[in-house]
Amino acid sequence: MSWKADFPLLVRNPGLHYVDSAATSQKPTVVLDAIRNFYETANANPHRGAYALSVAATDAYDDARQLLARFLGVADADALIFTRGTTESLNLVATSWGRSNLAAGDEIVVTAMDHHANFVPWQQLAISIGAKLRICELTADGRIDLHSLASLLNRKTRVVAFNHVSNALGTINPVGEIVRMVRDHTAAIIVCDGAQAVPHMTVKFDDLDVDFYAFSGHKMCGPMGIGGLIGRRALFDSMPPYQTGGDMVEFVHDDVTTWNALPHKFEAGTPNAAGAVGLAAAAAYLSAIGMENVLRHEQALVAEASERLAAIEGITIYGPSSADRSGVVSFTLDDVHPHDLATILDGDGVCIRAGNHCAQPLMRRLDVSATARASFYVYNDTSDIDALIEGVLKSKEIFGHAVA
Ligand code: ALA
Repeated sequence: MSWKADFPLLVRNPGLHYVDSAATSQKPTVVLDAIRNFYETANANPHRGAYALSVAATDAYDDARQLLARFLGVADADALIFTRGTTESLNLVATSWGRSNLAAGDEIVVTAMDHHANFVPWQQLAISIGAKLRICELTADGRIDLHSLASLLNRKTRVVAFNHVSNALGTINPVGEIVRMVRDHTAAIIVCDGAQAVPHMTVKFDDLDVDFYAFSGHKMCGPMGIGGLIGRRALFDSMPPYQTGGDMVEFVHDDVTTWNALPHKFEAGTPNAAGAVGLAAAAAYLSAIGMENVLRHEQALVAEASERLAAIEGITIYGPSSADRSGVVSFTLDDVHPHDLATILDGDGVCIRAGNHCAQPLMRRLDVSATARASFYVYNDTSDIDALIEGVLKSKEIFGHAVA
């Protein structure tokens, strides 16, 4: 059982085995229809016109925010800022909050499993202001090492940034436990990268007790170029804007400007209204399936894929047991380069990602330059695992001379 029939690209390509949803997901008909419908019936610039069509565009954009806020358990919907995606959201926090709140000698904690988008902005901020970047290490099975975290937390810690789910390993991190530790020992803000969590499990921001939470639309059946940053209103209100321009101002005097209220203060320029509408349709689509069903479906596939991969001689699987991971399995096959493996698999229509997964600090700790990664979603089924396993066996045969 899968929801493959809802996805036109997969229906049109029955021989395709798309197992790269951690990179980007396919889009269901309801999302494509919602985007098209916006452009066909409501396209005008939101918040700019007094005429009915602009009001329709404004309403569609605002309704999308309300729906997303309900989906993500955000009572204060105006504290959900639309951005281009997780990367922009995290850069917004590091730049806007970071530059106005941190000083030389402060400490920023990130983890060794963070995606570059939640690592490099903090590293660069630390370099530019003379703060110290401290890196929480991982356990041998690819979890955040809570002892390492405890050893890094002190009164100088001003930011703790980590991902809810690792893109490279699929590890589901214990947000509640991490938040308790950080709150007990520091006055730091907590910044959580939810790019790989929101598409796959129930996420309710108001229950998480983090200060900022970032996510992307394109990994959750929505369009590319839209995502969000949820934060505490008091923090947003105290921060300078990230970008300046149209619609984010209140008064522009010759010598000074005051800022519009949330969410507009952080949404300079013409918004991606069609993207927001498509993203809301994606959230509605996933809600109708039920996020607990999405996770159950992926975990069953990842458990089966892991078991069958592990039975192949020469395979190393990285990360925790499948009960503690979302739909990702990251692996290597002896000394076959993951790029070669991905190329062989592609020849048989199997799409996996090979590389460092924008997580070079993690790769160094795994002592590999790259892994092969299969990542499952609602449209995958056992036939995708069959094709993956066949492809791996074929690669093993082709590169047999290189395999010990
Ligand atoms: N962050 C995306 C991935 O993990 C692109 O593949």
